[in-house]
Amino acid sequence: EIEGDPAAGREKAQVCAACHGANGISAVPMFPNLAGQQASYLTQQLIDIRDGTRAVPQMAGIVANMSDQDFADLAAYYAELDPNLGQADPALAEQGRKLYRAGDLAKGIPACTACHTPTGQGIGTAGYPALSGQHPEYTVATLQDFASGARSNDPNAIMRDIASKMSDEQMQAVANYVYGL
Ligand code: HEM
Ligand code: HEM
Repeated sequence: EIEGDPAAGREKAQVCAACHGANGISAVPMFPNLAGQQASYLTQQLIDIRDGTRAVPQMAGIVANMSDQDFADLAAYYAELDPNLGQADPALAEQGRKLYRAGDLAKGIPACTACHTPTGQGIGTAGYPALSGQHPEYTVATLQDFASGARSNDPNAIMRDIASKMSDEQMQAVANYVYGL
């Protein structure tokens, strides 16, 4: 695994700030926050976006000529930044809390906390991303993309399986919960 240099990453991130914000907190909810995300996850997503296994048309030109070292540097930079915690809808968040912590046995949905951890920070060494502080609109959209198969880079299709069992209401609820987690 390539070691990233956060200072070098900060320089390289200037081109990303237009969409992902100056401190990795984006102003547009469909552009994910990157601040505090697991470095290993960030690096893998950037490789997937460059190589086309995850389609992000807005980024394709920017990452096309970047190296794995560039990605490791960018990831080291964003991983060190403080995440953003948002104000979620309280009723949805309470519903989401139950799903996140206990899953939905009847529908075969496991507890999210097992992989994304009780604090929502994820487990970098296992490839489990942080969800904490993410824009609810992005979280819902990416769950829908897993469910439909539009996002298919998930190595073992874990999230495809889980998201395809979730209702729209459950997606909204859990997205609001993790926004403030
Ligand atoms: C997603 C990094 C530039 C728009 C992502 C993700 C990463 C990333 C790591 C995946 C996040 C996740 O899965 O949680 C970067 C870096 C950039 C850059 C390091 C600069 C080198 C941009 C720019 C735009 C953009 C300039 C807008 C023109 C998006 C969008 C997504 C995304 C829309 C979400 C795609 C989806 O819904 O699947 N970016 N980005 N990014 N980025 Fe960027
Ligand atoms: C990715 C939500 C349960 C493993 C994600 C993402 C979301 C999410 C929103 C994308 C993050 C981003 O784009 O920044 C959830 C919810 C769960 C749940 C709401 C419970 C209902 C689990 C469980 C596991 C898991 C139980 C492990 C067994 C993963 C992995 C990824 C991921 C490996 C990364 C996929 C990739 O590399 O493309 N999850 N998750 N998740 N989740 Fe979950």
